[in-house]
Parts: sequence; C-alpha cells; structure tokens
Amino acid sequence: MSTISIIAAIADNNAIGKNQQLLWSLPYDMKRFKSLTTGHAVVMGRKTFESLPNGALPNRKNVVLTTLPEAIFMDSFACESMHDALNLCENEDEVFMIGGAMVYRQALKIADKMYLTLVHHTFEDADTFFPEIDYSEWIETERQDFPADEKHAYPYTFVTYIRKK
Ligand SMILES: NC(=O)c1ccc[n+]([C@@H]2O[C@H](COP(=O)([O-])OP(=O)(O)OC[C@H]3O[C@@H](n4cnc5c(N)ncnc54)[C@H](OP(=O)(O)O)[C@@H]3O)[C@@H](O)[C@H]2O)c1
Repeated sequence: MSTISIIAAIADNNAIGKNQQLLWSLPYDMKRFKSLTTGHAVVMGRKTFESLPNGALPNRKNVVLTTLPEAIFMDSFACESMHDALNLCENEDEVFMIGGAMVYRQALKIADKMYLTLVHHTFEDADTFFPEIDYSEWIETERQDFPADEKHAYPYTFVTYIRKK
C-alpha cells in the first residue's frame, strides 16, 4: 500500500491561490517540495497542472485529474477519477497530493500524512482555499519555524502530521 501524502502551503486564512497562481514566492518551501516529492508520484487537478510554469514536474510520475476524456498533458498521465489515479500509483511507496483545493478536499479524506507549510499572513484577495482540517484526526510529528528574510516575504512553518490510527 502506498502512503498517501498531502503537500500544501496554506496561509493563515486557509488561502492557497488566486487567479490560478500561488500567492507567494517562498524559495525554501519550493526546495522542500522538490526534495520531498522527487522520485515519487504527484497527483494534481487539471487547473494546477495548467498553472505549472514549465509543465510536468521532472523526475516524478505526474498524474493529472480531469473529467475531459480526450485530455492530453505532456509527460503526464491523465486520470478521470481519484480511484484511477491511485490505481495507477499502486506500486509507488508514497503518492503526493499536490493540489489544488478540489484535489485537497478529496485527499483530506484518504491521506495518511500531511506536509504543510503554514504561511503566516492573511491574503484577503485569495480565491482558492484549503478545506478545514479537523486536527483531532492528526498527530503532529515535526515542526520547524522560519522568519521572513530578504527572499521570503512572510514567516512560515513546516509542519508534518500523520493520521491517528
Ligand atoms: N498553496 C498550495 O500549496 C497550492 C498547491 C496547488 C495548487 N494551488 C492553487 O490552487 C488553485 C487551483 O485549485 P483548484 O481547486 O481551482 O483546481 P485544481 O484542484 O487544481 O483542479 C480542478 C480540476 O481538476 C479536475 N479534477 C479534480 N478532481 C477530479 C476527480 N476526482 N476526477 C476527475 N477530475 C478531477 C477537474 O478538471 P476538469 O475541469 O478538467 O474536469 C477540476 O476542474 C490555483 O490557484 C493554484 O495555484 C495552491
């Protein structure tokens, strides 16, 4: 069985995006994302795929959810359901649910693990939000705080959770 992991960066008001883009540039968060997901499968919604600046993420099995039967995504697999996506990844040790909101809503019900980056700022003009997390279902296993600096406009925290058995 694969470990199903959510990886997301979430602002104080649960904001995750605006106009099909991220709301911030946090290079150290991108570095962590790359190092955690490289060599694994990443599952994303069609809109998130379309927002990637350089298309499919290299050195990862890219799986794109879409209801459009004819959809073709370069260097990626298209799947018409989460069930199909998970079947396609059944031999992977870890499958990362990388967004966006629509995918996170489905993933939150089935994930074993969450790698969250809490971005300590409220983005009033966001249009996409992470679903409410019931923290009573999760155990925090790691936490690291970082201040804002010249490359990171906001302070942020890396937190890892595993689902309670
Ligand atoms: N902060 C973060 O960590 C983070 C991470 C990722 C994305 N984002 C942001 O999130 C926003 C995009 O999120 P979103 O919720 O609008 O879109 P999304 O989840 O990326 O994509 C939604 C689309 O995925 C397809 N889809 C989702 N679940 C499906 C299923 N079970 N079966 C078949 N198709 C399925 C549908 O595509 P069709 O319409 O083609 O059928 C749906 O319209 C952007 O602003 C992006 O920058 C933020």
